[in-house]
Amino acid sequence: MGRKLLISVLVIVGFLAGIFHSCANNNELDLYGVQLCDTTNITWNSKIAEILKNNCVICHGPEVSYNGVRHDSYAAEMVVVKDGRLRGVVNHLDGYFQMPKDRGFLPECELKSINIWLDHGAPEN
Ligand code: HEC
Repeated sequence: MGRKLLISVLVIVGFLAGIFHSCANNNELDLYGVQLCDTTNITWNSKIAEILKNNCVICHGPEVSYNGVRHDSYAAEMVVVKDGRLRGVVNHLDGYFQMPKDRGFLPECELKSINIWLDHGAPEN
């Protein structure tokens, strides 16, 4: 076997071993720099409150609440869930303001989580 071929084979085997190794340990952590997104059982308490707290409450909370919108309690959230504004603003749908304001879209996993949560009827727990 030529030396180059041998080296190629070793590289491929090493690469595959690396893949299997990381799969075995992939508990929601970085896999080649790709963050996995856990979308099972998304509820207000398990995930959504935290996402909104980190991205929205600064402008929609106890101190400031632009357009009267607050994202710091389930009851308040239900207002914009029911009238469709939450889905409209985070997905930048036509005719809606775009949130988070001046910061583009939420990170992919956060946005996906909110949409899945809405699709499932926005459960609290
Ligand atoms: C830097 C401040 C800021 C942040 C952060 C922010 N908002 Fe807003 N939000 C505003 C302002 C200001 C308005 C009023 C409309 C406008 O001027 O864009 C608004 C309006 C809204 C409205 C009402 C829209 C309407 O049609 O009445 C919703 C719903 C909303 N924001 C949701 C969110 C969500 C969800 C997030 C987080 C993902 C968020 N906002 C983050 C400033 C902010």
